[in-house]
Amino acid sequence: MNEQIVILDFGSQYTQVIARRIRECNVYSTILRFDTPAVEIAALQPSGIILSGGPSSVYAKDAPLPDKNIFSLGVPMLGICYGVQIFAQFLGGRVEKGQKREYGKGTLKVKDSSCALFRGLPEQLQVWNSHGDKLTKLPRGFKPVAVTENSPFAAIENRAQKIFGLQFHPEVVHTPRGSEIISNFVHKICGCGKGWTMRNYVEQAVAEIRNQVGRDEVILGLSGGVDSSVAAALLHKAIGKQLTCIFVNNGVLRAREAEVVQEVFGRNFKIKLKYVDAEQRFLTRLRGVTDPERKRKIIGREFIRVFEDAIVELRKNRKSEIGNRKFKFLAQGTLYPDVIESVPIAGNPAAMIKSHHNVGGLPKNMKLQLVEPLKCLFKDEVRLLGLELGLPKEIVFRQPFPGPGLAVRCLGEVTPEKLRVLRRADAIIVEEMKASGLYYKTWQTFGVLLPVRSVGVQGDERTYDWTLAIRAVESQDGMTADWVKLPYDLLEKISLRITNEVRGLNRVVLDLTSKPPGTIEWE
Ligand code: XMP
Repeated sequence: MNEQIVILDFGSQYTQVIARRIRECNVYSTILRFDTPAVEIAALQPSGIILSGGPSSVYAKDAPLPDKNIFSLGVPMLGICYGVQIFAQFLGGRVEKGQKREYGKGTLKVKDSSCALFRGLPEQLQVWNSHGDKLTKLPRGFKPVAVTENSPFAAIENRAQKIFGLQFHPEVVHTPRGSEIISNFVHKICGCGKGWTMRNYVEQAVAEIRNQVGRDEVILGLSGGVDSSVAAALLHKAIGKQLTCIFVNNGVLRAREAEVVQEVFGRNFKIKLKYVDAEQRFLTRLRGVTDPERKRKIIGREFIRVFEDAIVELRKNRKSEIGNRKFKFLAQGTLYPDVIESVPIAGNPAAMIKSHHNVGGLPKNMKLQLVEPLKCLFKDEVRLLGLELGLPKEIVFRQPFPGPGLAVRCLGEVTPEKLRVLRRADAIIVEEMKASGLYYKTWQTFGVLLPVRSVGVQGDERTYDWTLAIRAVESQDGMTADWVKLPYDLLEKISLRITNEVRGLNRVVLDLTSKPPGTIEWE
């Protein structure tokens, strides 16, 4: 078992950030609900426990509280923000209702530099506060080790029992040296080594996949996106020819997408790849449809049908080839954030914003068991794993691309002509973004075809053609986004190339909308 730190989630919007910071210290971390029984936590043999922040007050009627026995496990603990209030509630001490939330930057002064949390750090640190209630009397056995303008108890410790509390957030970027505090906790206080690396994970995952799959066969829907690509490479390493990937060309892919996938996975990795050309099937169903939600539904439903048909066909052919050994498993690139049980506490945006995009509807009656070899990884880890497995940067760091593809970037009815135009323009945008060095620094950059005609003049000719909108956004997770101020000379180049090279477009405009209020995709 990996050495690990358990994080009890009290509903903070930063819980996953804490988990990621710990893993960046090469220590595995697991997020559990705040009320997970102490015996279950003990069974994991954690090296330390972190109590996350949260939007509640310990005095509130439905305040989330942990199993009190966690304090008898003898494991080092770190309470962050609301976590400190929990200490006060269970170990003695007092918390007072703040008149208003203390929110924003503060300066921390370390008073006791012998505290292991602050080893190697200066006496003054910039920190980020976000709390309502505050600690006014220390729990028994604790002493203050650092203060801020507003709190004499900004950091506290019970050195004998290895319990520490921070009223500020060390996990966020606005606490610039917070990662070192977390590193001190996991390495110096909990005594963890640095065993959690993607190199080690490959070995572990390969063993687990082999163990689960045995000699049976696995199917994977390969989209060319980061997650399914990394899952494919990992499974291939584990079970080689027992893996078959299905790649569906749904007719709304970007230029060269199908070729790139066949090149990388078929020719380079020599993965068994079933390429299904379903372009006509999809485009026929989309004909005449203009409503965005209907377009999405049609594509989602059709994908499942095509995928099921492909499996049936594979099974038919397979039987003769390898006897009765049928496809028994379906692999999916599910990530850790999809499986963490969110804490439904009011005020926690992470719990309230649910992605409406998860495909969720893969074959139900095919009697396939799931293999999910990425389900304990965060996206950044999946990318590192991809590099470790030898996948090219083009795949590992590619920008997100929606399941319904270009269909949601071709406003209104999707036609072959519009797709042709959009593909050309999109390829130019990607090319120029890559040439400028900005492609991999931007969350997404793409074109949207607006079926609006306007008058132009090209050469000596009057034109009456469509418009292309350039959408470039910066984001951490796609939930919110800011539009990106791309350099004018880059925009100029893109615009010139598009109007010169793509027949059917005579005007290029820039989308200046952040999310909210706009979504990233236009449909
Ligand atoms: P919106 O448009 O809702 O998109 O702001 C947020 C992020 O999700 C991507 N997106 C999708 N991803 N299937 C996906 O896998 C979908 O149906 C889908 N729709 C949008 C979008 O590109 C952005 O990164």
